[in-house]
Amino acid sequence: MDDFRGRTALVTGASKGIGRALAVDLARRGADVILVARAEQTLLAVADDIRTRFPAVTVTPIPADLGTPDGTGRLLEALGGHSVDLLINNAGMGTAGPFLISPLERHQSSIDLNITGLTRLTYDLGRSMIERGSGGIVNVASTAAFQPLPYQASYGATKAFVLSFTEALAEELRGTGVHVMAAHPGATDTSFFDTSTMEVNPAFSDTPDRVAADILDDYARRHTASYPGRFTNQAMTVVARFLPRRTVTKLAAALNRKLGLHEARDLTGAPG
Ligand SMILES: NC(=O)c1ccc[n+]([C@@H]2O[C@H](COP(=O)([O-])OP(=O)(O)OC[C@H]3O[C@@H](n4cnc5c(N)ncnc54)[C@H](OP(=O)(O)O)[C@@H]3O)[C@@H](O)[C@H]2O)c1
Repeated sequence: MDDFRGRTALVTGASKGIGRALAVDLARRGADVILVARAEQTLLAVADDIRTRFPAVTVTPIPADLGTPDGTGRLLEALGGHSVDLLINNAGMGTAGPFLISPLERHQSSIDLNITGLTRLTYDLGRSMIERGSGGIVNVASTAAFQPLPYQASYGATKAFVLSFTEALAEELRGTGVHVMAAHPGATDTSFFDTSTMEVNPAFSDTPDRVAADILDDYARRHTASYPGRFTNQAMTVVARFLPRRTVTKLAAALNRKLGLHEARDLTGAPG
């Protein structure tokens, strides 16, 4: 597969988890990579690791907080005229637990990053892609996008936005040379859950490496949706589309209660 060779890919949330795995795999496939996240030292360490393993590719770390207008603005400024062939909007966060007793600040941060930051980068970099008549955008949503998620209410809703927005954009841009794909990982073994008491059983989750490889393979095949990892992830999204909405919501609530999410608490110390 030589789809990525010589291309420049920008990956948000590249300091760890799925984003880091995407950046490493893109470099392995021959793409130059621009890495974005907030933690500068971690980002520099990831950049060094990729340079050591894949000396032929160019690695550019750019620290930025994409949950703020300043952060996205600074990233776009730092890019200058540098053209991005593939934008992967992967950075995302969410909180777990009953909505009204978890910190409002965490819900707001999730909306600011998962929706506003993603929309802004898609807009700005997408416009340059359209001008050039080529490029690609991958927005990382989630299996959480396909039904309301009691006890992860705001997170699920942000991912429903990403799903709807990305599907619509993929259709708007069909035939323009700019390919758009939504990716829907299921539970993946990353530090995503470290900010709450929520725990993920590794036996029922995928590795970030597998998720990243599946997403890139699907993008290379020009799919408009990617369901990386185990097959049950995709199967559950199909079930959610065919059952009545109220039934799906009740089932999602029951599953999340079984996982203990109705008792989950935020661990960041953010004010309530
Ligand atoms: N893990 C799962 O089970 C799962 C399942 C489905 C979908 N997803 C989605 O997959 C994506 C990646 O999640 P993950 O599991 O890899 O999470 P993760 O391990 O927590 O990594 C999140 C990445 O996003 C960055 N980030 C967080 N806030 C940011 C901000 N304000 N500005 C810029 N970068 C920021 C983090 O770096 P800094 O903290 O240094 O900024 C980190 O690099 C997310 O969109 C998530 O919703 C995850």
